[in-house]
Amino acid sequence: MFNLAPATLTEVRQVIERSGTVPDAGNFFRYYNPNSRTERFEKEYALKVGVKHALAVNSGTSALIASMIAAGVGPGDEVIIPGYTFFASASAVVVARGIPVIVEIDESLTIDPEAIRRAITPRTKAILPVHMVGHPCRMDAIMDIAREHGLVVIEDTAQACGGKYKGRYLGTWGDLGCVSLDAYKVIGSGEGGIVTTDNEWLYTRAQSYHDAAACWRPDRFARERKEGELFCGENYRMPELCAAVALAQLRKLDAITTATRTIYRQLRREIVLPRGARWVEPLDADGVCGYTLCMLFASNADAIKGSKAGLGGLAGGEARGARDWHVYWHWQQILEQKTPTPEGFPFRSPYVKQLPPYSQDMCPRTRDIMMRVGMISIQPTDTAEWASAYAADLNQKLAQEFKA
Ligand SMILES: Cc1ncc(COP(=O)(O)O)c(C=O)c1O
Repeated sequence: MFNLAPATLTEVRQVIERSGTVPDAGNFFRYYNPNSRTERFEKEYALKVGVKHALAVNSGTSALIASMIAAGVGPGDEVIIPGYTFFASASAVVVARGIPVIVEIDESLTIDPEAIRRAITPRTKAILPVHMVGHPCRMDAIMDIAREHGLVVIEDTAQACGGKYKGRYLGTWGDLGCVSLDAYKVIGSGEGGIVTTDNEWLYTRAQSYHDAAACWRPDRFARERKEGELFCGENYRMPELCAAVALAQLRKLDAITTATRTIYRQLRREIVLPRGARWVEPLDADGVCGYTLCMLFASNADAIKGSKAGLGGLAGGEARGARDWHVYWHWQQILEQKTPTPEGFPFRSPYVKQLPPYSQDMCPRTRDIMMRVGMISIQPTDTAEWASAYAADLNQKLAQEFKA
């Protein structure tokens, strides 16, 4: 989403220039490399958000999968997820061989803790709160429920790098946090992701899984130090070139977040909402990332008027028949259990006694809320002058659409 600043290009140039000055290709590999940008990025990110371990990976999706494998999610285990999130959150559960249990959001646009409580069964293993469009989930309540029931919390912070809840960085409340660094995120390296945790064992397992066959543990030749350390994995390693970009972007995170929050607040002051509409109130007004300003209309018909005035959100797209992968009712792969091979694993297996009641209507509140939301995208490069002109123009268009 954000352009490459000169600092970013310098980082990348240094990696490229250094290659060819030494006799191997080690410059592009994170191990055996005293200049590893990946390692430096991990250290800086961990220090920034205040966690013991950060593991750089090659996408937000792989961060989620590695976290679930680390947490021991496996056949028959249920993972509670919100009905409003990018499909990758649901898909990652299935790839980890778990069963996604889709529950309602509330008007904060994030998972409703009471809905989590209602969805817990003896098979529940983990909760996956998602900080959608940079809006923090109610993490204290979610952690209380998790502790009460002995559940693991994996925060999907893909869309909320730099956001906070009650003064603490998003992604650091749960047992594990997952960030995406893809091209449309707060900071990005083209593709990339981060797993964070304070738990040594979870880190070890995520690290193993992300690095095929656990070859690069502290001592790659050591025997298994503890049962559960060695198993087959994937290659989810972050490329050094992506890490060089990620590092430069990380150093701009505060500036980016300050810029978007400032415009977010200005637009809230200057936009006049039509009758019946109100702002979506983030659960932490200071911690919201501020790159998307959201409002709730009284009805879907009003939200469609909003989209005609130029607002984003589902209403206009759905009215044109568009399929948005951020809402559960389009997740055919889950609702109809579409699997790459015909036996239907992990949905059909001796470990699964009962599937959740998958249907397009299973979370009516989520559907109602999402069909009434209007959204405005904010870039860190937006200026106060732009915001005033945008608000004035939108006010006029909204007044036109809502007249009479
Ligand atoms: C909520 C959420 N989770 C996970 C992901 C997956 O991240 P990535 O695209 O880096 O795999 C995304 C990406 O859009 C996302 O928005």
